[in-house]
Amino acid sequence: MKPIKLFITILTLIFSVTISKAQKKIAFVEELLEKMTLDEKIGQLNLITPGGGIATGAVVSKNVEEKLKSGQVGGMFGVAGPEKIKVAQDMVMKNTRLKIPLIIGSDVIHGYKTTFPIPLATSCTWDMEMIEKEAQITAKEATADGIMWNFSPMVDIARDPRWGRIAEGAGEDPYLSSAVARAMVKGYQGNNLSDKNTMMACVKHFALYGAAEGGRDYNSVDMSHIKMFNQYFPPYKAAVDAGVGSVMSSFNDVDGIPATGNKWLLTDVLRNKWGFKGFVVSDYTSINEMIKHGLGNLQDVSVLALKAGLDMDMVGEGFLTTLKKSVEEGKVTREEITNATRLILEAKYKLGLFDNPYLYIDKTRAEEDILTKEHRDFARKIATRSFVLLKNDKQILPLKKDAKIALIGPLANDQSNMLGTWAPTGDYKLSVPVFKGIQNIAPNANIVYAKGANITDDTELAKKINVFGRKVSIDQRSPREMLNEAVKIAKSANIIVAVVGEASEMSGESASMTQISLPESQKKLIRALVKTGKPVVLVLMSGRPLVITEEFKMPVSILQVWHPGVEAGNAIADVLFGNYNPSGKLTASWPRSIGQIPIYYSEKNTGRPEENGYEKFKTNYLDVSNTPLIPFGYGLSYTTFEYSDIKVDTKEVIQVKPLHISVNVKNTGKYDGEEVVQLYIHDVVRSITPPKRQLKGFKKVFLKKGESKTVTFTLLPDDLKFYDGDLNFIAEPGIFEVFVGTNSNATLKETFKLK
Ligand code: BGC
Repeated sequence: MKPIKLFITILTLIFSVTISKAQKKIAFVEELLEKMTLDEKIGQLNLITPGGGIATGAVVSKNVEEKLKSGQVGGMFGVAGPEKIKVAQDMVMKNTRLKIPLIIGSDVIHGYKTTFPIPLATSCTWDMEMIEKEAQITAKEATADGIMWNFSPMVDIARDPRWGRIAEGAGEDPYLSSAVARAMVKGYQGNNLSDKNTMMACVKHFALYGAAEGGRDYNSVDMSHIKMFNQYFPPYKAAVDAGVGSVMSSFNDVDGIPATGNKWLLTDVLRNKWGFKGFVVSDYTSINEMIKHGLGNLQDVSVLALKAGLDMDMVGEGFLTTLKKSVEEGKVTREEITNATRLILEAKYKLGLFDNPYLYIDKTRAEEDILTKEHRDFARKIATRSFVLLKNDKQILPLKKDAKIALIGPLANDQSNMLGTWAPTGDYKLSVPVFKGIQNIAPNANIVYAKGANITDDTELAKKINVFGRKVSIDQRSPREMLNEAVKIAKSANIIVAVVGEASEMSGESASMTQISLPESQKKLIRALVKTGKPVVLVLMSGRPLVITEEFKMPVSILQVWHPGVEAGNAIADVLFGNYNPSGKLTASWPRSIGQIPIYYSEKNTGRPEENGYEKFKTNYLDVSNTPLIPFGYGLSYTTFEYSDIKVDTKEVIQVKPLHISVNVKNTGKYDGEEVVQLYIHDVVRSITPPKRQLKGFKKVFLKKGESKTVTFTLLPDDLKFYDGDLNFIAEPGIFEVFVGTNSNATLKETFKLK
């Protein structure tokens, strides 16, 4: 056979196998739907949680056993472990008429038992292969424990660090967040959802949840469609394009209708425009919450949600308790319920549950695949890559392994805050404190330790942070006594390493803050330590960008480590002592003042841009400049990189052709290191006002000291497109500027013309 013929035959074969697989699924699901009563269908739309894990709403499900046995449940979350899940699955398989297996979900936001750094941190790696691998490991561990559906990735664009859930996403930028969304969906789902090591992803929270007014969690959102499509939608769409199996609706309203009941959002955009084929689940009681939003009673809002295109009701049981009545009263059709049921059954089919309802229940896997050495090693590696070196005063870092170190701070010998927010499946007792990590990496270092301050002295705040267990403990000693002890030992050492910052629950869900500076207790400690005149390294932990304007001006070095996960201490010590040269870059701007929020690099120029500091009648503030304290994309290394020779391969490009941009990057410092080379464009003239610049490419390169590399980017036709005033995705002819460099302030520039 001629090669071309052979190729066509193989293609036809693959095509027909795919088609017949799809046909098999359709036939199976349709046959099952035929057999189902209305009650059985409504049961499939019900997602319950028995409580016991972390419940994020006021209610948990009641009469769980009875509901499972009588076919009133389609899925469950907040249960883990093969034994427990088997009990639930058995209740369904042994008692219900049609034996439709449960789908078991969970929030596995940054690792299952092997807890990785918080997602905002891992986004700072700008390393999509690593992020995909993290998701793969997460899927392996979670499925080994019986879970096959993950309420992740969360890719809500966040430009307001007061919002605590900025910790759970990938920051402020649509291009980077889209890359993260793709990597995570790919990592969780793999190529075959019925493989027992993969799980179905659920992209959330659709949509715009990160734009809550005032940064207050669950608050309203009001945004133009142009902004939605250009800035906030891309990461969700990227997840859909990557084949995400499910989508979670958000709590907030969109154009005056909560996302959960918003037909424009869930049907017109998600399904009709983007072609999403999976199912949509509500957020925790978000159907019921439409009552308080002011849209009617439980029956009304359940009708609204179903008709909008929402398929599964998380915890609220609005569907379970009212949909039948609504059918009888003609408010919804049987067909609408069947359509939602079909999508749930298809998901279960894809997960292989109809072939084997116990596919994910395997005790040996739970023992062998969780918290392996390989997984912990990876957690350590990705944590080191997520740290961002904000300052290296007098190049004090990396430290010598035999240094005499005063290790100080409320987080220096802490375990309970290392995992970060939303890590209910992890065990904080397995995490490595910084003190221990330093001892592991630098056994010859001479370390003296003092707590120095409480995370906060505010007992009211501490109470709120401690709702899920103790994260903040207020010392018996007075703040003065603790401070004096710290200063005394600081004076006895050659260098001070102060581990300071936020407790893990100071960010995350329902943890918005109007003040995002370091708590006063810690500010005082830092001032006192700096006053000793000894070199100070601040190891800063937080789940959000902080306002550190005061500390940034001090003669200190600052390593931002977020909440680093189970290997916290080892990873921090790896970087402090130079086993790994930091390469992380911020994915959200750090403001000078909370008054600058919302703050993001891709803002628009306005007609009166700030150009040379404060000028009357320009867009600016009297008290601070418009620029952030630390820009998006920023992050130092122990070495230095020099950029030169930016080139575009053609000065004029037609709309369907790619364009190549190259730049020379040289490691000019004393250490080998990695650099995230970033490319931004500026569409100079277009029909809707353009952002000042937009990230459109990034590459992470490793350079030995003295080494140079040419880094080449390809700009694809779509990279130059935007949604215009009629929401058409187009590129407009004209001049574009391209900037390449080490952060969003890159100055190396070229231009080209799009014809
Ligand atoms: C959160 C979701 C989460 C759900 C289930 C909600 O409160 O907003 O992100 O998936 O709870 O735990």
